[in-house]
Amino acid sequence: MAVHPGREVYANLGLPPGGSYAESVAVDQSAVARKPDSLSYIEAAAVPVTGQTALQALRDIGRIRAGMRVMVIGAAGGVGTFAVQIARQFGAQVTGVCSGSKAELVGSLGAERVIDYERQDPSTDTVRHEIVFDTVGKSSPSRCRDILTDDGIYISTLPTPEVLAKVVLGNLLPGQRSGVITARADGGELEFLNRWFEEGKLRVVVDRTWPLPEAAAAHAYSETGRATGKIVLVVRE
Ligand SMILES: NC(=O)c1ccc[n+]([C@@H]2O[C@H](COP(=O)([O-])OP(=O)(O)OC[C@H]3O[C@@H](n4cnc5c(N)ncnc54)[C@H](OP(=O)(O)O)[C@@H]3O)[C@@H](O)[C@H]2O)c1
Repeated sequence: MAVHPGREVYANLGLPPGGSYAESVAVDQSAVARKPDSLSYIEAAAVPVTGQTALQALRDIGRIRAGMRVMVIGAAGGVGTFAVQIARQFGAQVTGVCSGSKAELVGSLGAERVIDYERQDPSTDTVRHEIVFDTVGKSSPSRCRDILTDDGIYISTLPTPEVLAKVVLGNLLPGQRSGVITARADGGELEFLNRWFEEGKLRVVVDRTWPLPEAAAAHAYSETGRATGKIVLVVRE
């Protein structure tokens, strides 16, 4: 994207050491996109890593298409809240997996079915899915065998040995496959998401914000694994 002084932009700074806990940062122009006017700075800060991870996992690895059944495990989290909405935008039927107190939120994001994992193990679901996207690495390819279609794919954000072995075998053998997402920074993809933000088809769920000097408290909260949507550090009020 062509940038010029004064333009409001946002970007995924890439894998560590991306370095976005700062008042200013150097970034490759290819990673930058126009910040949508409809998003506040806090909302925009919540998008690049999680939104791109969800988009790339579902579209590039899962080859999502309209009519597919997609289960999102961790549907109330940073990646999950985007995954539910993006899957819906592609025309999929979404089952979200979260704790019961967050079922209403996940339904409001577009999940037609919600499984409360505290009451039901999602791997006992009776519906078979073309894609199971495990955004929080709580399941595995073997546990999802019976809830995937015969050529379905289990995608994880976590490269466990089982997932990696299945990624290799899946390329050699017919049947169910696995994938691991490692999100890449790409401003063009943020522009792709911008259209949905501007049309009101995608929204950002922000749990809490902290001022930059309290980054350690923000990390401690994140490590509880119970954040709803994304947490954001505010560099300057
Ligand atoms: N590979 C990549 O490129 C990439 C990119 C981004 C993130 N990641 C990784 O992906 C993971 C998820 O990131 P995130 O930002 O989405 O995490 P997050 O926001 O911290 O996830 C928290 C969510 O996990 C849910 N959760 C906890 N236990 C669960 C369970 N057993 N079943 C279903 N949901 C459960 C919680 O919901 P409840 O409160 O309802 O339990 C909470 O909403 C992290 O490990 C992160 O490091 C990887």
